Amino acid sequence: MPLRVVVLISGTGTLLQALLDAQAEGRLDAQVVAVGSDRPDIAGLQRAAAAGVPTFVHPLAKGADRAVWDSELADLVGEYRPELVVSAGFMKLFGAAFLDRFGDCTINTHPALLPAFPGMHAVADALAHGVETTGATVFRVDAGIDSGEILAAEPVPVLPGDDVETLHERIKLVERRLLVDTVNQLSRGRS
Ligand code: GRF
Repeated sequence: MPLRVVVLISGTGTLLQALLDAQAEGRLDAQVVAVGSDRPDIAGLQRAAAAGVPTFVHPLAKGADRAVWDSELADLVGEYRPELVVSAGFMKLFGAAFLDRFGDCTINTHPALLPAFPGMHAVADALAHGVETTGATVFRVDAGIDSGEILAAEPVPVLPGDDVETLHERIKLVERRLLVDTVNQLSRGRS
């Protein structure tokens, strides 16, 4: 049986697309069984639907109880009995209830060479610091901010004239490849 994967997204979903493409081309030792989002009307949900993958949306309403939202998210993900949860541009931190259930099997990708430049503005921070090299990291999620065990990482050079958009786009090329490779490694490692 292929490894059951739930992917969580918040945006354009190009990382998700990399997994879906790999699956369609027989390069993924796993099956994306559902895609969840905290935002409706995002391109990533259309990508999932186009691939015939079930989707769910769980927004965090203004003023809502964060712990309740987190616990409900865990329940929604749990309905699909995932063996791996991939946070692929999902822009919310997981809370205790989610991590209790899925902390052992949730991975994330980050557009910097962790532990450098954690947080939401990794690409801008790398540019602001004037580094010559940044990169991409796939890591296990823990209760901290981009602080879990590193599973894969690869440097990406900062080129003259780079802005946040051009650099992030170049990093995302690497993130997509590392993510597919890491899912495959985890899938092979479970047997
Ligand atoms: C990726 O760079 C990811 O690391 C970051 O957000 C981006 C998601 O891109 N957290 P996409 O929505 O998959 O295109």
